[in-house]
Amino acid sequence: MKILVLGSGAREHAIILSLRSETAGHEIFAAPGNAGIAQDAHLVEVDPLDGSAVAAFANEHGIDLVVVGPEAPLVAGVADVLRERGIPVFGPGKAAAQLEGSKTFAKRIMDAAGVPTGRAVRAASLAEVEAAFDEFGAPHVVKADGLAAGKGVIVTSDRAEALAHAEHYLPSGAVLIEEFLTGAEVSLFFLSDGDTVRALTPAQDFKRALDGDAGPNTGGMGAYSPLPWLAEDHGSVEEFVAEVTATVAEPVIRQLDAEGTPFIGLLYAGLILTPAGVRVIEFNARFGDPETQVVLPRLRTPLSELLFAAASGTLEDQPQPEFSDDVAITVVLASEGYPESPQTGRMIEGLAEAASVEGVRVVHAATAGPDAPGGALIATGGRVLNVVATGSDFADARARAYEAIGRIRLDGGHYRSDIAARVAQ
Ligand code: AMP
Ligand code: GLY
Repeated sequence: MKILVLGSGAREHAIILSLRSETAGHEIFAAPGNAGIAQDAHLVEVDPLDGSAVAAFANEHGIDLVVVGPEAPLVAGVADVLRERGIPVFGPGKAAAQLEGSKTFAKRIMDAAGVPTGRAVRAASLAEVEAAFDEFGAPHVVKADGLAAGKGVIVTSDRAEALAHAEHYLPSGAVLIEEFLTGAEVSLFFLSDGDTVRALTPAQDFKRALDGDAGPNTGGMGAYSPLPWLAEDHGSVEEFVAEVTATVAEPVIRQLDAEGTPFIGLLYAGLILTPAGVRVIEFNARFGDPETQVVLPRLRTPLSELLFAAASGTLEDQPQPEFSDDVAITVVLASEGYPESPQTGRMIEGLAEAASVEGVRVVHAATAGPDAPGGALIATGGRVLNVVATGSDFADARARAYEAIGRIRLDGGHYRSDIAARVAQ
């Protein structure tokens, strides 16, 4: 197949590596991609937010499938434009992408579909925020309604800090005040063609910037899969996945279909396993980053077949996706100052040494150059690289991931040292 992937992060690089590992031998294009993706796909100078430009490129080059990586093109309606023009696209239209684009929309859908989630109130003024804080008590959970690049949520017992966060986001609309939930967090992805649902396999993301879950929330500093402790608490991973499919994914997909806005693409359920049961803390309308980097290396079913079936309404004919028993871990290397004020433009060295560690892939998140032989590789964003290690057990995969990331040189670069520590003992 000829496949065009929209996006420029580690998630898109991981998707492309999976597509490339298939025996089918696809021709892969990426818009805009990054320096790592350039080694695995043809980079294309098309604005991923411009649906007409993407459609024109797809038609001109006979693209069989467009895979939308990030949320921004989805919320901008790029998938709608492609679908209207008969181009198979993996990614929901603008209306269904509101599941990620608006927290209040997501809550409404969950209420209508009977999906378990935290109690929340929408607050449009500081007085309403204060009233909700009084009702729920501390710690306070405040969520910006719209897309906020991972910065929209604050969880804090400091009421003044929570109020300041609400005050910052109120001018752009309402905020959501939610009850505080405790428990382990799990990310679970579902593919859908608008009707049929197919689950992938659970992963855990590390959202906070620093070891021990300290520091501010980030886009994600690392991940691992599978989650062995899930089997202890829920009988088996399969039972857990079946439960969440039946109580979360299928009702949401049915509800969106009933409202005339079918969800075609990847439904990301961010779950928290509270003592009272599984609760949804967020939905995303695309693959998670960095969870994708540990889920896809374990996927045995050809990814292109699943994505194409979802895009073309034939997921029902596909078998359940299968996963290997191997483990996968990813550690994110971030720029100095990430997430508050990442310092970009710095040189990265040592990638070849890192990639030479057995079972390790270096996936690029925000890199540019080298355009000329001998040119430098430069960090262009907050999360710069992901080191991904696979293996037969966590202690071994973890040791290799950290050996590899230790070989990479980026001035001021930082990473968490406790990714998957809990499962590696
Ligand atoms: P979100 O962007 O909604 O995933 O929120 C980011 C992070 O904030 C989540 O991964 C949780 O760690 C935390 N969080 C969100 N909602 C809650 C909640 N109701 N109770 C406790 N923590 C939460
Ligand atoms: N890892 C969190 C996200 O992709 O939103």
